[in-house]
Amino acid sequence: MALGALPDYPWDQMVPYARRAAEHPDGIVDLSIGSPVDPTPAVIREALVAATDAHSYPQTTGTPALRRAIVDWFARRRGVTGLTEDSVLPTIGSKEFVAWLPFMLGLGEGDVVVHPVAAYPTYAIGAQLAGATAIASDDPAEWPSTTRLVWLNSPGNPDGRVLDVAALRAAVARARELGAVIAGDECYAELGWDGPWATEPVPSILDPRVTGGDPSGVLAAYSLSKQSNLAGYRAAFTVGDPALIARLLTVRKHAGMMPPAPVQAAMIAALGDDEHVAAQKELYRARREVLRPALEAAGLRIDRSEAGLYLWATGGRDAWETISDLASLGILAGPGPFYGDGYPEHVRFSLTATDERIRAASSRLRSRGH
Ligand SMILES: Cc1ncc(COP(=O)(O)O)c(C=O)c1O
Repeated sequence: MALGALPDYPWDQMVPYARRAAEHPDGIVDLSIGSPVDPTPAVIREALVAATDAHSYPQTTGTPALRRAIVDWFARRRGVTGLTEDSVLPTIGSKEFVAWLPFMLGLGEGDVVVHPVAAYPTYAIGAQLAGATAIASDDPAEWPSTTRLVWLNSPGNPDGRVLDVAALRAAVARARELGAVIAGDECYAELGWDGPWATEPVPSILDPRVTGGDPSGVLAAYSLSKQSNLAGYRAAFTVGDPALIARLLTVRKHAGMMPPAPVQAAMIAALGDDEHVAAQKELYRARREVLRPALEAAGLRIDRSEAGLYLWATGGRDAWETISDLASLGILAGPGPFYGDGYPEHVRFSLTATDERIRAASSRLRSRGH
């Protein structure tokens, strides 16, 4: 199948707003993209440096030490025990995995890929790359019989929504009824804030309470970009049904989709060290506690956002008007329409700015609110 026209990259539409925001005398506060601003922890950088002699090809399947580190991490941090080393596969960041999964599963015309209503745009792009049809739906009862792949995203980007065990279980049951693969994109799992997620871990789609202890047809995707400030390393992995992992491994071996060896070494260090993850979470917590009340003081309402890296807000009017207004304050946010048709009035604020920039945003918002 020839690749059809892809949509323009939506972020290009932000250029005029970025330009206006940059004219603010105290500079722009860019909260539009979730790109980490804090340093990569030393423990991870040192592991990378120690692995720079990489004369031979890396293993597509990951080194035995990396596979073990992923299995151990899932047991320790996510409560998913019983995984084996043939149920994990490193990826070159998770965006490529999201974009190519429908293609790697052999999906094509007539096949449906379901994704959340408020969604990271790459789920739909992945369907398009394979020639399949993307459908936005959060209700398993609506998923059509032609569904071959379901994407869940918990905690969600952009809305910070968490799917509890019951919701995950219902989604997995429905996917199984349809004979579809179901994949949980869980890259914000370490960032729980409100409600039960203040104290309990956000559940994985591979949680035995969800799968009944059988990972058939189920995959989880996790990324170290956010939890470990490794976005520039391209370090992520997928875990789940060994039969699916074996198929993906074959495709990825043929296509040369292997994470670089030094990055694999760095991933082991990142997965083995919980301290830097906790420290990073506290930085985001502090930023969230400054930004959230300031947004509310400026008349925005925060929806969901119980976990994750973003505040999902509405000013009760067209998102582009809110974006324009914020740009006049020197603040750049992400427009809801970038995340699907369901939220024309929402905007997304990322917590990925320095403490100083978050304080600047807060004081500008507060001066506007009063
Ligand atoms: C929901 C979601 N999935 C996947 C990604 C991709 O992350 P990476 O490619 O850095 O692993 C992102 C990045 O923002 C995301 O928000």
